[in-house]
Order: sequence, then structure tokens, then C-alpha cells
Amino acid sequence: MFARLRSSAPVTPVITPEGVRAWLVTRYEDVRAALADPRLAKDWVTHMTPEDFDINVDPVQAYLDQHMLNLDPPDHTRLRRLVVKAFTPRRVASLRPRISDVTGELLDTMAAGPAETDLIEAFAFPLSVTVICELMGIPVADRKSFREWSGTLLSSRGTREEARSAAVAMHAYFTHLVAERREAPADDLLSALIAARDSGDSLSENELLSMMFLLLVAGHETMLNLIAGGVLALLTHPAELKRLREDPTLLPSAVEELLRYANPLNHATERFTLEPVTIGGTVIPAKEWVMLATASANRDPSRFRDADRLDVGRDTSGHVGFGHGIHYCLGAPLARLEGEIAFGMLLSRFPELALAVPESSLRWRPSSLVHGLEVLPVRLR
Ligand code: HEM
Repeated sequence: MFARLRSSAPVTPVITPEGVRAWLVTRYEDVRAALADPRLAKDWVTHMTPEDFDINVDPVQAYLDQHMLNLDPPDHTRLRRLVVKAFTPRRVASLRPRISDVTGELLDTMAAGPAETDLIEAFAFPLSVTVICELMGIPVADRKSFREWSGTLLSSRGTREEARSAAVAMHAYFTHLVAERREAPADDLLSALIAARDSGDSLSENELLSMMFLLLVAGHETMLNLIAGGVLALLTHPAELKRLREDPTLLPSAVEELLRYANPLNHATERFTLEPVTIGGTVIPAKEWVMLATASANRDPSRFRDADRLDVGRDTSGHVGFGHGIHYCLGAPLARLEGEIAFGMLLSRFPELALAVPESSLRWRPSSLVHGLEVLPVRLR
């Protein structure tokens, strides 16, 4: 469908699964340019009135929405600056031993268990959630609740009431955790953010809670879908899998290629126009939603030769799997490192890893935000 749109209607009006009118942009050049265009904004709470668009904003959910990904400069700059140091490549590299240990423990448990397992439940979810929780200082023991809440919030099939109660529960959880950590600070990102909050006016209480929400959800949902979607892509492309097994130096480029080819995040990321903006020759009026289809841009043959082919050795430079411009993924260095460790250790531990069900029976989660499998049954040996 994206291929058809790129050639015949590269900027086209659509209705999203949530019922919102928007413009879908599918060509690489247009998507990349739009991602860096300051006339396309994020902070709809400030710029849009409820009459400007047809979604009902629930005040409870909006409470968790005051994070950098929903804001424009200068608020975006202020919030991003508070956490950027925790995610630099050098800082993230120091996490390698701990991420390898967590990965090794999960693989040991899998090896001691049944020959068939759900790779998401046994590996992709616990690994991704443990890493981000430890970095932030969130108790890993509560991970089952996060999975439920974020699953509900990101689903396009749940009811409004379900989404609301998940947002309420998550808000209450973070409020309680912040109060606890204020009493007893530790050496983690949450304590650092609380100190920033309490030492000046650089962070409001809601912004602090929203930051926790964003980092936790963005940090584990994407990663678990990269691992699960990436493993599926490799298992269904045996020649590329063999190539990677035989030459593990390809791991960094394989992770990059999986980010391009098996986009773990949404198919498109949204912005809205502050003024009329011309994209690919089409004039989009002011105050309209624009969906930038990164998944389509990453498969655009005008940028990537043989774009629909998985090639673990490909030069993927310029892919927009982590976005582009000021909102470029903050967690990219962490995702790259975690991806290399996860794919590398999983493949070497289970040389006979295979799908346990036909590919056609796999189900994708109903969400326009994440591109993720419900379960991934695999045979380990
Ligand atoms: C932003 C993808 C992992 C935190 C983004 C954006 C994309 C993305 C496409 C930009 C969205 C936009 O412009 O609208 C991914 C993928 C990941 C991944 C594919 C893994 C495979 C992570 C991890 C973290 C993280 C592990 C850890 C905390 C963030 C944050 C932002 C962001 C905080 C917002 C940055 C800003 O607004 O300045 N991510 N991400 N991501 N990502 Fe990631």
C-alpha cells in the first residue's frame, strides 16, 4: 500500500483508526524534510483548541502527556536537556556488562525450560523492561502492571474507559514512587530528576511524571518490538540469518537494518501544521494533522536500493527509524547497544532457533503507535 501511495498519492488525506482526519506523507524526501520542519509542531495542547480537531482529550490522560515528545522548543529543549546526559553513547556503553548479565540470565532460564516458548514473554519483554527500569530506578518487580497499562494505552481497540483507568493507575503509581524516592534518594535517573525538580523551576511535577511515563513506555515498547519483529524477520529470511550467524561483526549493521526494515514503532509519527505548509507539491492548510510515515520512507526505493529486501550488511545511513530533527530518538544509543547484545546472545545460545507456528498465524497488536506482535512462539532446540 505504501508503494502505491508513494507513486500515486504521496501526500494524501486519510482517517486514522482512531477516527482523526490527517494527511499521510509517504515519500522518503518529504518525510525526512518534514521531520525537521519547525512549521510542523507537536504541542497541540497549546496551539489547538478542541474545535480544531476531532478528538476528545481526556484530562486524566493529558496529565501524563506533558513530555518532550509532545512539546516544541523552548519547553522541549528544557526537558530534553535534563535527561540527555543519561543517554549519551559513552554513558550507555557503561551499561554493557549489566545488559549482558540480564540477557544471559533470561537465556539460562529459557534453556532450562520447555523447548517451545513465547519469545516476547520469556525474553523481549523482560529484557527491555528490566534495562529501562534499572536505569531509571523503577522497581522491576512491578513490570507486569506496566505491561498491562502501556498495552491498554497504546491499543486502538480498547474502550475510552479502559484507557482512562490505565492512565489513572499509572499516574497514581508514579506519584507514589516519586514521593518514596524523595524521602530516600538513590543513584538513579528518577532521583536526579526529583533533585532537578526540587532545586529550581526547571521541571514541574506533572512534567516529571510525564517524563517517567515517556521514558518507561518509549524505552520498553519499542525495544521489545525491535527484538520480536527483528527475530521474526531473521527467522523468515534464513539466508540473512545464516550470514549473520557466520559473521557476528555484522551485528551493528543488522540492528540498523532491522530498524529500517521491520520498523518496531508506529508506521507514522504525527505533527500538526502551525501555518499552511507545502509538502511534495500539496498545500496542507494550517492546524491540520500530518502523519509522517517513517515505515514507508524507510522502504522508499528512491533512497534505499532494493528497499523491500532484508540485507543485514546494507548501508542504512539516513534511515528514519529513530526519527530525525529535534525529536530524534533520545534512547537510540541504548536501543542500538541492547539490540546488538540481545540478537547476538540469543542467536549464539540457540543455533536451532525457529518459528514454532506458521508465519501466517501470527497476530499483530491493534495499535497505530507500535508495530508489534501479540506473541512470538519459537522452538529453541
Ligand atoms: C523519540 C524510535 C528506543 C526514548 C523517538 C522517535 C522515534 C523513536 C521514531 C521520534 C518520534 C517523533 O519524532 O515523533 C525508537 C525505536 C526504538 C526506540 C525504534 C527502539 C528500537 C527508545 C529507548 C528509549 C527511547 C530505549 C529510552 C528511554 C525516546 C524518547 C523520545 C524518543 C525520550 C522523544 C525524544 C524527543 O522528543 O526529543 N524514538 N525509539 N526510545 N525516544 Fe525512541
